[in-house]
Amino acid sequence: MYGEIMIIGHRGFPTVAPENTIPSFRRAMKSGADGIELDVHLSKDGVPVVCHDEKLERTTNGQGLIADHTLEELKKLDAGSWFSAEFAGTPMPTLEEVCKLMTEWDGWLNIELKTNVIPYPGIEEAVLALIRKYDLVERTMISSFNHYTIKTWHDLAPAVPAAILYSNQLYQPWRYARTVGAAGLHPHHSTVTPELVKEALTNGISIRPWTVNKHEDIKRLMLYGVTGLITDRPDLAARA
Ligand code: G3P
Ligand code: MG
Repeated sequence: MYGEIMIIGHRGFPTVAPENTIPSFRRAMKSGADGIELDVHLSKDGVPVVCHDEKLERTTNGQGLIADHTLEELKKLDAGSWFSAEFAGTPMPTLEEVCKLMTEWDGWLNIELKTNVIPYPGIEEAVLALIRKYDLVERTMISSFNHYTIKTWHDLAPAVPAAILYSNQLYQPWRYARTVGAAGLHPHHSTVTPELVKEALTNGISIRPWTVNKHEDIKRLMLYGVTGLITDRPDLAARA
């Protein structure tokens, strides 16, 4: 923590290891970060897996949608070679594998439910079962660009905080957040003003902008008093 500001490694530590893989999360955990962020989809057979895109092409040697592949098929893919030869053969992790890794660390887990393109019915229940199994309920936060998912999550597990992800300037988002049961705002950093931070905090809503990578933006948002920030450079943020 920098004072009260929580530093969250975006997809782990994606500038030094392939995003959303165990090596990326391990490096984030050693970087000075207070938490890690990751993206979750469901495999064809309903298993929560960690990857940013719906499609396999950018970060694996597979083709097509995650949703059209079973876990067994996904586990055969290489999710590391696209980044560098050093990580050749690194598999796509399941959320369960990351939950196990979290038991070796005391930081926060920010699970982004990637339901904004494919709805993945049942993803909320599957994720909740895992964070309960690994005793992570007290240090997990959920986020999503799909705010129906946030409402579903809040109805299912109100004790596990949820945050709305958004990219543009919402009007009075601290009020809107309440309507979907969100306890936090995860806005694109370019939309964040001192007034927004002040209103959110005054109204009991936390605020953690993404993806804040430049030193001057990190400093600016820290001065505004954000609750936390999500960054590709958890090392820089922790030193800022
Ligand atoms: O959670 C913050 C950030 O991850 C949202 O955007 O596209 O990187 O998942 P994206
Ligand atoms: Mg994300």
